[in-house]
Amino acid sequence: MNLYVLRAPTGLSDWETRPRLGMLERSTGGYMRNVCVIGAGTMGSGIAAHLANIGFNVTLLDQDADAIRQRLEAAKAARPPHFYLDATVDSIRAGSVAENLDWVREADWVCEAIIEKLDAKRALFAQIEPLIREDAFVSTNTSGLQIALLTEGRRDAFKGKFLGTHFFNPPRYLKLLELIPTDDTDPEIVRRMSAFLEDACARRVVTVKDTPGFIANRYGMWSMFWATHVAEKLGFSIEMVDAITGPFLGRPKSGSFRLNDLVGIDIMVDIAQNLIDRCPHDPMTSKLANPKSIDFLMEKGWLGGKSGQGYYRKEGKQFLALDLGTFAYRETREVDLPALSALGRKPLGERLREALQGKDEVGEYLREYLIPALHYAVQIAEEVSHNVQDFDRVMRWGFGWEMGPFEMIDAIGADHLGLAAGQYYNSGQVKSHDGTFFSPAPEPQYATIQEFPIIAHYPDINLRDLGDGVTAIALTTKMGTVTPTAVASLHQILDEGSVTRFVLTSEAKVFSVGFDLKFFASKIDEGDFEAIDHAIAEFQRLNLRLREVPGVAAIWGYCLGGGLELALGCSQIAASPETQIGLPESKVGLIPGGAGNAFLRLRTQDQGAKGLTEAIKTLALGQLSLNADDARRYGYLVRDDVTVYHPDRLLMDAKALAQKATPKPLPTWQAVAGPLKGMIDSMQQDLVSKGALTQWDQTISDKSKGIFSRASSLEEAIQMEREAFIALCKEGLSVARIKHMLDSGKPLRN
Ligand code: NAI
Repeated sequence: MNLYVLRAPTGLSDWETRPRLGMLERSTGGYMRNVCVIGAGTMGSGIAAHLANIGFNVTLLDQDADAIRQRLEAAKAARPPHFYLDATVDSIRAGSVAENLDWVREADWVCEAIIEKLDAKRALFAQIEPLIREDAFVSTNTSGLQIALLTEGRRDAFKGKFLGTHFFNPPRYLKLLELIPTDDTDPEIVRRMSAFLEDACARRVVTVKDTPGFIANRYGMWSMFWATHVAEKLGFSIEMVDAITGPFLGRPKSGSFRLNDLVGIDIMVDIAQNLIDRCPHDPMTSKLANPKSIDFLMEKGWLGGKSGQGYYRKEGKQFLALDLGTFAYRETREVDLPALSALGRKPLGERLREALQGKDEVGEYLREYLIPALHYAVQIAEEVSHNVQDFDRVMRWGFGWEMGPFEMIDAIGADHLGLAAGQYYNSGQVKSHDGTFFSPAPEPQYATIQEFPIIAHYPDINLRDLGDGVTAIALTTKMGTVTPTAVASLHQILDEGSVTRFVLTSEAKVFSVGFDLKFFASKIDEGDFEAIDHAIAEFQRLNLRLREVPGVAAIWGYCLGGGLELALGCSQIAASPETQIGLPESKVGLIPGGAGNAFLRLRTQDQGAKGLTEAIKTLALGQLSLNADDARRYGYLVRDDVTVYHPDRLLMDAKALAQKATPKPLPTWQAVAGPLKGMIDSMQQDLVSKGALTQWDQTISDKSKGIFSRASSLEEAIQMEREAFIALCKEGLSVARIKHMLDSGKPLRN
C-alpha cells in the first residue's frame, strides 16, 4: 500500500498539523489536492468542511464571499460541528463567482453544489467550461435533477468527464456517496473518480442509475412519507411509531418522525414533489402526496429542527409531541409496547418475522408499513440500481439502516412477506436483476475484525490472523473494558512470543471505555488493597513492554483511561477521526494507574514546563478530546500517530502500518528546566478560584504534579504513580466518586 502524508493546511499551529492516512496515490495515478466547491449552502459548506478536514486545499465559491464566511462559521458552530478543528475553517479559501471564478483553473476537482435549479446549474457550467483543466474532474451534487440534462450545450470533452456526486448531509458523518455517470461519461473517468472518492475522500461509493432521486431519495424519501401515512391511518402516536421504527426495526434511534424533523419538512416536500413530477410511470409515487400532518406543518412553517419545532418541540427541558389527531402539541408519552422488549434482543430477521405475526400495535404497524415498503423495493430495484447489493448499501450507508430491504427480505424470509420465494444473497453471491447470481468484487480494504479467523482464545482476548504476519489482539470484553484478566492474557501472549506484529483492537462497538472500575470497587469493599496494587503493577508492566513488539493500536469510538494507556503503550496509534480520547480518571477520584501519567509527561516534555503544566491541567480536568485530531491538543496523540479518515478502513490501514512498524523504545525521561512546580501550583489555584476544580480535585491533581515534577526517571514515576493510586483508593471522597460512577454512570463532584 502506498501511504503518504499530505501537507497540512496552512495557518495551523503545531499540534494541529497531523499525519493523515488514507490518501492513496494509486487512486488517481497522481496527487489531487485542490478542490473547488461552488455553492456554499448547506451542502457546499458541509462538503468543503469534510474535504478540508481530511486535508484537501479547498476553495469555496458562492455569489457573495462574505456570506460564505458566515456559512462556514455556522458550520463550525453547528452541534455537532462540521469541522474536526475550528482552525480548519481558515484553511478554506472563500471567493465570489463574480470575482474569483478563475480559481476554478487550479482545481483538480470542481464540485458544484448551488441551488437546485436546472437553468442556474446549466448557466454555471457554461461559464466554467473554458476554465476547467483538461485533467480535472467536474461533478454536480444535485439530489433531484437528471444529470444528463445538466450538460446540454456543453462540449463532448466536458460531457465525457461529468457525473453526479451525491453527498449526504452532513458529509462529516454520512459516508455514502451516490455516483451517477451519464451515458456520455467516459467509463475510465467513472472508475478513477470512484477510486478517488473512496480512497482519498473517505466515502463509500455506490454507482447508481441516472433516474429520479437515484436510489436514496427515490426509496428513502418514499419510506419516510409512507411511515407517516401509515401512522396517520392507524391513528398511532408519533412516539409509538418512532419506537417501532427505530432500533427495533434495525434503524437509527431517530425513528420516523424525529428523522422527518432532522431532514426538514420543506425539503421532504420538495423532494417528494420532484419525484411525483418525474415518475408519472410509478403508481406508488401517489404515496408521496402530503400526509395531513405535513400539510399542517408546512402551513405553520414548523419545518423541524431548523425552525425549532416540527413533529417534536422542545419547551425548556420538556419535549412535546405533535398529536396527529388534533395537531396540538402535548407532553411526550412513555411508549408501552411489550413486544419491543420481548423480541428486541433477537436477531433482526427473526425479530421482525415474529413481530409481523403479533396481534398488537407493533404487528399491525409492521404489516401495514414494512410489507408494502419491501414490495416497493422489489418493484423499483431494476429501474434504479445496478444490483440489489447497491440498493441495500445505499440504505445502510445513507440512512444508517442495519439491513437494506433485500437483506431484510432474506432475513425475514420472502414467504413470510408474500414475495416470490428465494434468497437475494447466497454463499457470498448476489442475485442479479436477471435472476442469475454474481460474485461481487472483493473489497479487502474494508475487512472487519469478525472476518478474520480466530487463532487463539485467551480469557477476555482473541487473537485473529490478519495475514501478512500481523495478528489482531482483540479485547472481547463489553465496551472493550480492560480487566485484570485481559491484562494477564496479554502478558501471556507476549511471554509466548508467537505474536511478532500486531494490531491492538477490540471486538466491541468502541475501542475501550477504560479499566474495569467494578474490580477496584469490589477490592476496596473487601479492603484488599494488595490485589489492587498487584493489578496496577501488572498493568503498568504490560503497558511498558507492549512496544517491544511492533504494534499499532487501532482506536475508535471511545479510547478512555486504561484503554488509552494500553494504546499509548503501543509503538503507534491509528485513530478513527470520530474517537473521544482521554484520561478522565480524576472524575472517579483517581489518577491514571497504567503508566498514563508517565506516558503523558513523556509526550509533552519537549514543550518544557509550559507543556507539562498544560498536561497536568488536562489530567486535573479529565479532559476528553472531541475527536482524534482534537486529541493532539492534549498530547494524547502525537506526531507519529495517525488519523485514518476513512470510516471503514481503520483496521486494514492499521494493519498496513503494523507491517511497517518497528519496535519503538520510549523517549528518555528528561528533567525540565523552569519553575514547573510553581507553574502547576498557580494553574491549580486559578482553576480552584474559578470553581473548575474542587479541593479534592486539587488533592488528586497534586499526585500527578508530584510525578511530573519530582520523579527523576520513568521507573521512579511508575512507582510513584502506583503508590498514589493505592493511596487514593483508600480515601472516602475518591471511593464515593467511584461508587457514584458505577451507580449512575455520571461523575460526582465532591
Ligand atoms: P442551499 O440553498 O442551502 O445553498 C445553495 C447555495 O448556492 C446558496 O448559498 C446560493 O447562494 C448558492 N448559489 C445559487 N446560485 C449560485 C450561482 N449561480 N453561483 C454560485 N452560487 C450560487 O442548497 P443546498 O441544500 O446546499 O443544496 C445544494 C445542492 O445540493 C442542490 O442541488 C441540492 O439538491 C443538493 N443536495 C442537497 C442536500 C441537502 O440535504 N440539503 C443533500 C444532497 C444534495
